[in-house]
Amino acid sequence: MENKKKQVPILTKGLLQSPELYQYILESSVYPNEPEPLKELRAVTATHPWEFMGTATDAGQMMSMLLQLVDAKKTTEIGVFTGYSLLRTALTIPDDGMIIAVDISLDSYEIGLPIIRKAGVERKINFVQSEALPVLDKLLETSDNEGSSDFAYVDADKMNYLNYHERLLKLLKVGGGIVVYDNTL
Ligand SMILES: C[S@@+](CC[C@H](N)C(=O)[O-])C[C@H]1O[C@@H](n2cnc3c(N)ncnc32)[C@H](O)[C@@H]1O
Repeated sequence: MENKKKQVPILTKGLLQSPELYQYILESSVYPNEPEPLKELRAVTATHPWEFMGTATDAGQMMSMLLQLVDAKKTTEIGVFTGYSLLRTALTIPDDGMIIAVDISLDSYEIGLPIIRKAGVERKINFVQSEALPVLDKLLETSDNEGSSDFAYVDADKMNYLNYHERLLKLLKVGGGIVVYDNTL
């Protein structure tokens, strides 16, 4: 009798169920539209032992779309690493835009910083080396900051997502602000 093997369905957590389709989308749509400085930063990050921490290229493209959707000027980023998502944001927001970027480590940011400088967008970035929670609390001490932010990207310290969310809701514009959490789509 023929030994019938049970077919095990290949399940992935993402929307795209086929790695080939994902690769096709990257090569036909995402990479060709990726600005040069981001390509350079992605290449440098690929040599880092924790390169998997960098924001995915397609997620970055979606971030740009969301930033443009709300015409974002004032943004917050929690979790910078080598700066891929930060550079994506800095390249997308207008010249008078400003990003408060928080990371406990400076070392990884310094890897991406020369590329950020070369891209001419460093002046839009206020990098704060710190745990994120006290930085958000400090921002909320100034009443002008409440309801003033257009966009926030949270890509660090998942245990504190709820605490970040409570504070970011106060910082974001009511009805017009967007907060994006990594690994939630
Ligand atoms: C997943 S990486 C960020 C990736 C980055 N968004 C990118 O596109 O490359 C997470 C970063 O969060 C930082 N981090 C971890 N815990 C933190 C905390 N409590 N406050 C601020 N930064 C933190 C780490 O140092 C690390 O650089």
